[in-house]
Amino acid sequence: MAVNAKRCENIVAQDGEVVGAACRVPYYPLVVKSGRGAIIEDADGNEYIDMLSSAAATNVGHSHPKVVDAIIEQAREVIHYTPVYTYHEPLVKLAKELTEITPGNFKKKVVFGLTGSDSNDGMIKLARAYTGRSKIISFIGAYHGSTYGSISLSAISLNMRRKIGPLVPDIYHINYPHCYRCKFGKKEESCNLECLQDFEDKFKSYLPPEEVAAVIMEPIQGDAGLIVPPQKYVKKLYDLCKKNGILFAVDEVQQGFGRTGKWFSIENFGIEPDIIVMGKSIASGMPMSAIVARAEIMDAVGPPAHAFTTMANPICCKAALATINVIKEEKLLEHSKNLGEYTKERFNKMKDKYSLIGDVRGIGLNIGVDLVKDRNTKERAQEAAAKICYRCWEKGVLLTFFANNVLRVQPPLVITKEQIDKALNIIENSIVEYLRGDIPDEVLKVAKGW
Ligand SMILES: Cc1ncc(COP(=O)(O)O)c(C=O)c1O
Repeated sequence: MAVNAKRCENIVAQDGEVVGAACRVPYYPLVVKSGRGAIIEDADGNEYIDMLSSAAATNVGHSHPKVVDAIIEQAREVIHYTPVYTYHEPLVKLAKELTEITPGNFKKKVVFGLTGSDSNDGMIKLARAYTGRSKIISFIGAYHGSTYGSISLSAISLNMRRKIGPLVPDIYHINYPHCYRCKFGKKEESCNLECLQDFEDKFKSYLPPEEVAAVIMEPIQGDAGLIVPPQKYVKKLYDLCKKNGILFAVDEVQQGFGRTGKWFSIENFGIEPDIIVMGKSIASGMPMSAIVARAEIMDAVGPPAHAFTTMANPICCKAALATINVIKEEKLLEHSKNLGEYTKERFNKMKDKYSLIGDVRGIGLNIGVDLVKDRNTKERAQEAAAKICYRCWEKGVLLTFFANNVLRVQPPLVITKEQIDKALNIIENSIVEYLRGDIPDEVLKVAKGW
């Protein structure tokens, strides 16, 4: 157990009485009280090195002083006046900044939302309105959020979709290129992109390409287990879209804002998308999301089809401007790339020692460690992931897993080498303890993940 857990236990017990389960994915009973940089303190005063960044929503670290100052200063001016009816300067400044840091040397425009999910809904509206087509292609394993539109785009969990239908129609899901677990039994070095051919077959049999408005892709599929597609796949998919008049949209909600050592993860593939959806770290965890798209696409949707009263809240806009400045000033893109390479190397060394680790992948401080029961069958080691994450929490590291068995390593980009070393040592010790059978089954009642 964590050193001291009294207050935390009490708060968690009360929470269970009054909060609905639909919004929860439990790993351990952590009650967050405060955070600075890459360190979180719980309600009992225990400290943790954060390897999760509030689900990649706090890339510049917790309560960065420059972000905090920006929030306080703006709160003193005005907390909110809706930009649906009026205008404000932080919104305009932020929109300009976003058009500059996003890839694409063409005129872009921006609309804001409150959370990644609603901006993915907005993407559907833009794509349909601009092209006059209704069909949207997404991927199996995609997580795009939990509003109706974004759930309809997602295909990662039956529980997310059960009992709540009908969902938004005319959305189709194709296989994501997952080289470690290739559905077509191929090796990346020698494959002929059978996964893309599989998609093209759909265009020849039942899915008329001229009715498809957009393909929406996570350039690195996050919640499905941090899957990095081959560059050649993304390029050919983009070309296929262009050939058929289909918009290429990317969801950067989790992978954006320096996570992969670039402002946006699609830059790792040399593609300029038509629509970019962003959220999470944009404003360091304040409720904000945005869509940046080619101006002509944005202009296709009339008012007030994507207007929210509290959108582009000026406090959130100031927090976002401060966040972007911190990423620039503290050179967090380089830091993410360099420390990410180091971290990946350390996990690869662990892979040499423990056959439990089947694959280590990712770009930047954005690493998935795929735990398997057997390296040949690649059967997912779900229990191992749950137990290791729980033990890490007990020892002062916040680590989670996704896709049942993939350790999710996404610390705040401001994390230091000393902190990451300490966290990696604790993770390795927890792996050893798991392999020795030292972590009791009891923890599985709590560490469920998804
Ligand atoms: C890739 C991706 N898109 C969209 C979302 C939804 O964002 P939000 O939870 O802010 O609505 C998430 C959240 O985890 C995500 O990872």
